[in-house]
Amino acid sequence: MAMTPQLQDAYNDQITLEFASSFAYLQMAAFFEDTNLPGFATWMRQQAEEERLHAMKFFEFVLDRGNQVELRSIPAPSSDFTSPLSVFEASLAHERKVTAAIHDLYGQATEGKDYESLPLLHWFINEQIEEESTVSELIEQIAMAGENGAALLLLDRELGTRAPGAE
Ligand SMILES: [Fe+2]
Ligand SMILES: [Fe+2]
Repeated sequence: MAMTPQLQDAYNDQITLEFASSFAYLQMAAFFEDTNLPGFATWMRQQAEEERLHAMKFFEFVLDRGNQVELRSIPAPSSDFTSPLSVFEASLAHERKVTAAIHDLYGQATEGKDYESLPLLHWFINEQIEEESTVSELIEQIAMAGENGAALLLLDRELGTRAPGAE
């Protein structure tokens, strides 16, 4: 059964937000390439790809429900980063915004008794717990490294091993 036009609108906004996340991480990848931290850049590229897959998960769901996908414009991501720490702080702020949007979507789906939405949104609720936890951990580690270049390079090497599709 198709969802209501209001819920369809909310899903279309979410598809766009996931693509905006992908853009944000791609911009962060460029920052790390510029600052000679290729491992961080690799991690950000994988993250951008993961966000694209999130957008596609919502995209397929809307189509499977017999609804219409309407892509919106994607705002330019911020690029005025001053340090690796500032990038990850921006990432955490962004993930929190996404979490709030998914919770809002869940609220709309339950209020409208759109039970078909629930398994998908549960998956995303769990995914956001994971995302916020990973980014918070990296913030702690980057803060610990501080001005210690060797510690930062070690972290860069570790992040560079992130495989496609890995959390
Ligand atoms: Fe996402
Ligand atoms: Fe995310």
